[in-house]
Amino acid sequence: MRIILLGAPGAGKGTQAQFITTELNIPQISTGDMLRAAVKAGTPLGRKVEDVMNSGGLVTDEIIIALVKERITQPDCANGFLFDGFPRTIPQAQAMVDAGIDIDRVIEIRVADEEIVARLSGRRVHPDSGRVYHLEHQPPKTPGKDDVTGEALVQRDDDKEETVRKRLSVYHEQTQPLVQFYKSLEEKNTGVKLVSIDGQADVQKIRNRLAEVLNA
Ligand code: AP5
Ligand code: ZN
Repeated sequence: MRIILLGAPGAGKGTQAQFITTELNIPQISTGDMLRAAVKAGTPLGRKVEDVMNSGGLVTDEIIIALVKERITQPDCANGFLFDGFPRTIPQAQAMVDAGIDIDRVIEIRVADEEIVARLSGRRVHPDSGRVYHLEHQPPKTPGKDDVTGEALVQRDDDKEETVRKRLSVYHEQTQPLVQFYKSLEEKNTGVKLVSIDGQADVQKIRNRLAEVLNA
């Protein structure tokens, strides 16, 4: 199955992706995680994208489309994949259509902007795996440490309130129009199914709702 998780920064895409990919045995393709890994490793790509990521803006479509097209040729994508944070612009979505990469489900996770600011200030991540925690809603077993490796958790550089607000405005301007884009594709009977779910419930409730959507 090929799935897109659509939602504002902090909507819970990464959190829910962890469950879906385990259940369906498909890889999570998070363009954000891939870019952060490149920044951390200091590759030419990482040096190119670091400033724009820290400012809350979007990396160019050209870079992102090339990155994703290369990633989905890997053998682990043979049975499908879950896109987390991609596509984020109409040209990115159109590039998949043009390449004949059909999507089965687009799931929009809806959360109000003020809730997002609160969520992101409490987020902590394990940089190497991309595992996500929250100081109150989803605390690690040992404070400050990843549950699996025991390594230190960190705060993302783009989770400062000012940057979060910028990311939210970029989301509303550039990414939210994708809901209409996929609605139109659905109406043309291309096989894609668009579902919107309420992301303001607890993590387990949303997980159950997603399971229903994926089995439907
Ligand atoms: P990316 O890494 O994709 O960030 P994002 O879309 O802004 O989303 P987040 O990772 O912040 O949020 P999430 O929805 O995964 O939430 P999470 O599960 O962590 O992108 C980063 C940057 O890279 C972009 O700004 C851009 O510069 C660049 N980029 C990436 N892809 C690109 C693309 N395609 N094109 C161009 N540029 C691109 O949850 C958030 C917090 O809330 C956590 O602490 C979690 O524990 C908590 N939480 C989750 N669910 C719940 C719940 N139900 N109740 C309470 N708390 C919850
Ligand atoms: Zn994420």
